[in-house]
Amino acid sequence: GPERLHLLHVDNGMMRKYESRNVLKLFSDLGLDESLHFVDATETFVNALTGVTEPEEKRRIIGDTFIQVFEEKARALGIEDHLLGQGTIYPDTVETGGTKRADTIKTHHNRVDVIQRMISEGKVVEPLAQLYKVEVRELGEKLGIPPEALWRHPFPGPGLGVRLLCSDGEPDTAHFDEIEAVLPDVATRIGLHALALPIRSVGVKADLRSYEHPVLIHGDADWDTLAEASGTVFKTVGGINRTLWNLAGTMPTTFRPLAATMTRERLDLLRECDHLMMEGLRRHDLYGEIWQCPTVLVPVEIDGKGSELCILRPIHSERAMTATAARLPLELLGELRASITALPGISGLAYDLTSKPPGTIEWE
Ligand code: XMP
Repeated sequence: GPERLHLLHVDNGMMRKYESRNVLKLFSDLGLDESLHFVDATETFVNALTGVTEPEEKRRIIGDTFIQVFEEKARALGIEDHLLGQGTIYPDTVETGGTKRADTIKTHHNRVDVIQRMISEGKVVEPLAQLYKVEVRELGEKLGIPPEALWRHPFPGPGLGVRLLCSDGEPDTAHFDEIEAVLPDVATRIGLHALALPIRSVGVKADLRSYEHPVLIHGDADWDTLAEASGTVFKTVGGINRTLWNLAGTMPTTFRPLAATMTRERLDLLRECDHLMMEGLRRHDLYGEIWQCPTVLVPVEIDGKGSELCILRPIHSERAMTATAARLPLELLGELRASITALPGISGLAYDLTSKPPGTIEWE
């Protein structure tokens, strides 16, 4: 039986800036120092992911590596017959196909094969698995969990590893003929420039994962016009699952996808962009109004410069099953343009205008 509770905090190198420190402080404030073990496993995770581009494979590797680190640490501490406690919530099981519908939207880290096996052996405890995030927060209020933990934005277990897109560098122009046959007309009609990007990212269509192209739109417009433009693009152009608003000064013309997989340096750059975004939300007192805000890096050179396109994805949502793009103040966007585009390697900056569906909250 669980004579003693051990808390293992594994830093997989994909956490937000200062997050590891915050987690350790939280448990220490709760008086749980004695039970807490910390492992910095950045190198193990990055090594396991070197050369891997496919998002679902990345997820499986991250999940498996976590269990490997967990088991190693348990052995080192001489703990046997232990149970794994996970904060799995209801959508995690739905999206991994854990309900009657066998479709997989994505494999959550807490639902990889090795964990499914541990579940069937009765080795996993998941007290929140029937609850949505809102209900978890209600419960947390009742239990007196500190607000900064309770109201922290949802953050995927595989962390920035999901948001750091990986590519073999081959331009992906599937369906470009059909897209380019109609997109220029649509752009003229909405009075903005529009360009399909030679990459694909995940979205959701009829409850299934689908990979399609983003369209970048450019021009001065208010939020209503941008939302309308985004809707028009989806209605009129096939093969598209996201519209992005260009935040860089001019409309780019050439996009060259680059070969890139997981590295410490890329993770650090994403962590810095993400930190600037999060700090911006707090500075403008918007953190609590936004459900979550992924920051994403896509390895593309733009107009012969840089190597990472940065995408901001602030959203409103109730349960993460659907979402709409939030409308951040232009002043904040100006500040982010200045700070993020000044980081070495950043080739461009864009704002995701897409609802879920057809996009997902995360990019992969
Ligand atoms: P999507 O991108 O499918 O995300 O619209 C829905 C919600 O799930 C979160 N998410 C995860 N959470 N482990 C988690 O704990 C994961 O592997 C994972 N993947 C996505 C995502 O941030 C959003 O809130």
